[in-house]
Amino acid sequence: MKMLRCRICGETYLGTEAPSHCPFCGAHREYIVDSPEYPADINEVQLTEIEREDLKASIELERSNTRFYLGMAQHKDEHVLSSAYKRLAKVEAEHCELFCKLASLEEPEDLNVPLEVSSDWCANIAESVEREQRASRLYRQFAERATNERIREVFEAVSAVEADHIELDGEASSYAGC
Ligand SMILES: [Fe+2]
Ligand SMILES: [Fe+2]
Repeated sequence: MKMLRCRICGETYLGTEAPSHCPFCGAHREYIVDSPEYPADINEVQLTEIEREDLKASIELERSNTRFYLGMAQHKDEHVLSSAYKRLAKVEAEHCELFCKLASLEEPEDLNVPLEVSSDWCANIAESVEREQRASRLYRQFAERATNERIREVFEAVSAVEADHIELDGEASSYAGC
């Protein structure tokens, strides 16, 4: 059993080898390091005004997506999809937490409050694709204009995670027969 740690979300993973994706934030394996290599001060960053505004926009986006997925997960008529989107909500909440940490802001109080969403899985999955495309595109833009190395690393990693979520929506969509 090894102590591994994700450079992106900072969570520890206990296992025999690095997983393909961080189970907490979805970051790809390349970001998973041996725990002693993880710098304790990794999130102590000096932000530019633009970086601060980009983090604030990201917190709002993750807040909304977390709540949207919690709303989807409440529809228990489909346990496979409900469980998958419950997990997705947790991943987005992890992103929200990370952005709050980087911006030294409190987490939104309503992060765990589900949004009212349609009971139509196909409509929700289609909305999810739009949300993920928007997030992935936005984070890529934020990564490009970031001057701080850590901020750039985080936005690049999370942009790739959101792109993975579009693939998951594809799987969900075929499963649901949309
Ligand atoms: Fe992670
Ligand atoms: Fe996502």
